[in-house]
Amino acid sequence: MHKPVILGIETSCDETAAALFRGPEMIHHITSTQLIHTGYGGVVPEYASREHNKLLGPVIRGVLEQAEMSLSEVEGIAVTQGPGLAGSLLVGLSYAKGLALGLNIPLYGINHIEGHIFANFIGHEVLPTPFLCLLVSGGHTQLIHVENARDYKLIGQTRDDAAGEAFDKVARLLGIGYPGGPLIDKLSKSGDSNFHQFSRSSFKDSYDFSFSGLKTNVLQYISKQDTEFIRLHLADIAASFQEAVVDVLSMQTMQAARDLGHDRIVLAGGVAANSRLRERMVELAREENKVLYQPDLRYCTDNAAMIAYMGYWKASTQSDDSLDIAAIPNLKLSFGG
Ligand code: KG4
Ligand code: ZN
Repeated sequence: MHKPVILGIETSCDETAAALFRGPEMIHHITSTQLIHTGYGGVVPEYASREHNKLLGPVIRGVLEQAEMSLSEVEGIAVTQGPGLAGSLLVGLSYAKGLALGLNIPLYGINHIEGHIFANFIGHEVLPTPFLCLLVSGGHTQLIHVENARDYKLIGQTRDDAAGEAFDKVARLLGIGYPGGPLIDKLSKSGDSNFHQFSRSSFKDSYDFSFSGLKTNVLQYISKQDTEFIRLHLADIAASFQEAVVDVLSMQTMQAARDLGHDRIVLAGGVAANSRLRERMVELAREENKVLYQPDLRYCTDNAAMIAYMGYWKASTQSDDSLDIAAIPNLKLSFGG
């Protein structure tokens, strides 16, 4: 069977990324993280689209050079259609449409969330569905029953902040910097996770999550301490906060897997890079005899490999998209029954 060469493009937030795939296998990928936002404590949308405009051409040329391939060998373009920042999505989508038109090859609009979920299976020709997915990123915290690549059911979701957002906000409270998730993860390695017991929220008869109470709890706790105490115990406070998030995510996921009879559990999204969450999930899955999939660390946070891989799936299972497709900043997974 012919394995088409797909170029993947991702520009939904502050990562400008491109990847080249041959069938389900990655040839090369480049992710360029925009540094311009570092001093602002978050992503500045206008700067993000300007940077994508500047970086996307060189990033695409970079993957082609690394792969020693030319544009004329590309047989399909996969591009993130949403969700994400409107201006940033538009940069990637316009570029992708230009390439598809110029090269006269198919265009595939990809849902970024599906990219995160299926990044676990890059290289696989068969998807091990059905499974229970814990999707944890900067914008999402959801438990999803994935029947197959087109059939999803929402099991639970956050009622306020997403898990990644909680990491970023607490990092800001603690003056650690941005992005908070990786920095808290690193700092926590030298801290005591039992130093302070922060609150854990759960809801009766529901698999929903809530992290805003935990964030307020951290704020109240540190506002009662003096600066020197916080400086001395920064790693302990970070580790105690991280433990609370990991506790809630992992216990809820295992409970849902047990109740719904899932043997396979899949982690997805930027927070799936968290070393403590990964460690905890490995332990729990082993204890309960579940098969656990965690994305390769390269594919947890935003990247174009996951977009190109979904492009391969679309190319092999459905028709291509029209060049009229629009950027959809609030694109969701379509949840059925
Ligand atoms: O999936 P992603 O790259 O972008 C979205 O689609 O949202 O996720 C980014 C989020 C950020 O909130 C970031 O702080 C968090 O993932 N994150 C982490 C880690 N690495 C990234 N959170 C906890 N631990 C990490 N190691
Ligand atoms: Zn993402």
